[in-house]
Amino acid sequence: MKTMKAVVLRDIGSLEKLSYEDVAFPIVKSGEAVVRVKAAALNHRDWWIVQGLYAKIKVPVILGSDGAGEVVNVGDPKDEGFVGKQVVIHPSLSWGDNSRAQSKDFRILGMPDNGTLAEYVTVPLSNIFEKPEYLTDEESAALPLGGLTAYRALFVQGKLQEKDVVLITGIGGGVASLAMQMALAAGAIVMVTSGHEEKIQRAVKAGIAFGSNYNDEDFFKKLTAAAESYGGIDLIIDSAGGKGFGDLMALIKPGGRIVNFGATAGNPESFDLRKMFWKQITLQGSTMGTHEDFGNMIAFFRLHRIKPLIDKVFLLKDVVNAFQRMKDGIQFGKIVLKP
Ligand SMILES: NC(=O)c1ccc[n+]([C@@H]2O[C@H](COP(=O)([O-])OP(=O)(O)OC[C@H]3O[C@@H](n4cnc5c(N)ncnc54)[C@H](OP(=O)(O)O)[C@@H]3O)[C@@H](O)[C@H]2O)c1
Repeated sequence: MKTMKAVVLRDIGSLEKLSYEDVAFPIVKSGEAVVRVKAAALNHRDWWIVQGLYAKIKVPVILGSDGAGEVVNVGDPKDEGFVGKQVVIHPSLSWGDNSRAQSKDFRILGMPDNGTLAEYVTVPLSNIFEKPEYLTDEESAALPLGGLTAYRALFVQGKLQEKDVVLITGIGGGVASLAMQMALAAGAIVMVTSGHEEKIQRAVKAGIAFGSNYNDEDFFKKLTAAAESYGGIDLIIDSAGGKGFGDLMALIKPGGRIVNFGATAGNPESFDLRKMFWKQITLQGSTMGTHEDFGNMIAFFRLHRIKPLIDKVFLLKDVVNAFQRMKDGIQFGKIVLKP
């Protein structure tokens, strides 16, 4: 039997349940391609799944939603032209016809379907996009899930305009760092929060206007003063939620938009409904994105020649160390893995 190396999650609960092992080479059906993964990347989703904190977990499974590589095989002879192409993988499967929200059949590559933390992965042909020529394999692998989520949150849901003041929470995160890069390229004035001073300094170097540490006592006071000095915040991009979420309602200017796509810090403890309606705030949820969003995201990166921020590159066999870095929350940008 032909085999390959892969990271298999054998059971939920802890990092010890991840095993780097030989598994059967993936089969390919009509309409699909086998991609030799040259680089993959982690998302918080993978870590939620390892902990058992995700809906409808199915194990054993090969995790991983982000990947870039080369097409080595196709299911149908008429698709032979794809073989040899350098590609990035779009991880939204079966989104459906409605651009406003995904269908009930929607899945994300990397559970329940086997994902990219492997030497090879099978994906629908419609989910492969040409790799941007100016990016390395590692940079390309850093793009898919985070870039897509950030693009939809900023532009499709958040309707970001040039010169808007945008606040991005938890800037060290993979999605947040990609959102920062895109917002800066779009000509926005970008403010960030982080629990780490050194991450704020890195964001300042990247071009943000202001950063505030949410562990500081006077965090909210400083952020409010800075927001006022820029004429108020037009758009907040949040994936933290938690007890700080309620404060976003006080921070945003009247008529502003808050887009949320995550709850890293849990559900909000309070929610001031009166503030929301009185200030005419738009509160918008967002998840991943459509095929069109993915194409637009890649085009945006290409147009602005943005290189995704890579935190660290690990070998696939060292996957536990890579997850540990995410668990400790010390990353700035994407954590990449190479077979
Ligand atoms: N709905 C969707 O489609 C979608 C897509 C992608 C991600 N998500 C969700 O979005 C979140 C981020 O994902 P990711 O892959 O970017 O994760 P990640 O790389 O692990 O980043 C998580 C970041 O959260 C920040 N954080 C932690 N506690 C915080 C708090 N109390 N306040 C503000 N920020 C805090 C930290 O930033 P600092 O170190 O700078 O403080 C950390 O770096 C996760 O919850 C994930 O499940 C949802």
